[in-house]
Amino acid sequence: MRLIIAGFGTVGQGFAEALSKRADMLSSSYGGVKIVAAFDSKSYAADKNGLDPIALVKRKTDTGSVGADKMKDGIDVLNSVEYDILVEASPTNIQTGGDGLRYIEHALRHGKDVITVNKGPLALKFKELKKLADRKKAMIRFEGTVGGAMPIINLCCEDLKGEKVRSIRGIFNGTCNFILGRMDNGLPFEQALKEAQYMGYAESDPSYDIEGIDTACKVVILANSVFKRNVRFSDVSITGIASVNAEAIALAADQDMVIRLIGEVSDTVLEVSPRLIPKGHPLSISGTLNTAQIIADMAGPITISGKGAGRIETASAILSDLIAVMEKRR
Ligand code: HSE
Repeated sequence: MRLIIAGFGTVGQGFAEALSKRADMLSSSYGGVKIVAAFDSKSYAADKNGLDPIALVKRKTDTGSVGADKMKDGIDVLNSVEYDILVEASPTNIQTGGDGLRYIEHALRHGKDVITVNKGPLALKFKELKKLADRKKAMIRFEGTVGGAMPIINLCCEDLKGEKVRSIRGIFNGTCNFILGRMDNGLPFEQALKEAQYMGYAESDPSYDIEGIDTACKVVILANSVFKRNVRFSDVSITGIASVNAEAIALAADQDMVIRLIGEVSDTVLEVSPRLIPKGHPLSISGTLNTAQIIADMAGPITISGKGAGRIETASAILSDLIAVMEKRR
């Protein structure tokens, strides 16, 4: 399979490393994977015979650019190389969908399969992209957009195929959860936010985390994929954690509760808000882990937890989508 990687930031680089780590397995079980092009916002590298993933990461680390060649628009790269799958890891833009949306649309229009970790395009245009993919007999997969390494979309849509998922409630933003957990221990909001930023989990504009925007994007993706709804970001009722102060945390603690930012989705609910959670409940965890409780008709509650972000962790989700595509195309 010939891949193009669009976006060579943390996740794009992590994915290149994951390809190198799993090269033997990909080659023996799936006939191998070749990166025929990779691009970031300014530069690209392309070779129809395949690029060395680790050399790409090294060049990006050493020079700040993935390729020696300057690039105006990633679409030119998509048009210039023969490929099968676009792995899209460009920066998220929740207002317009950004370049990532253009790349995804372009690839699908040309019948190419797409794997994306970009929340913006899916939160804005899920149904349109799915329809386009179906019309062109292409696949679009996006496990890494929700919960990072925590398997949730493919778990609900594939492993729980015979189920009726009634609802999902979860912690889908590591930054907010880290902040709230630190506030439980008496740290002021601002200081907790600084720590979260230092850990590299927060979005480049942390108001996306704090105001619940990031969680809302994830809730939209779950609603459209797992619940087959047709909703957009603007349909979500969103309250972030900016109003959660030390007094509210202390009042919750008096009742043996903690406050956590919860995203909830079902056939009728689409909400992000700080909620009181009893101490000891799976959703009362502290730290950056994501956790979700799926309520299924026959199976009952299923709880999952895992790293919601990170270089190699998110790459693990991309790799599972990649293998699913390769199995279907075989
Ligand atoms: N800013 C996000 C978080 C990153 O804190 O969970 C993963 O989407």
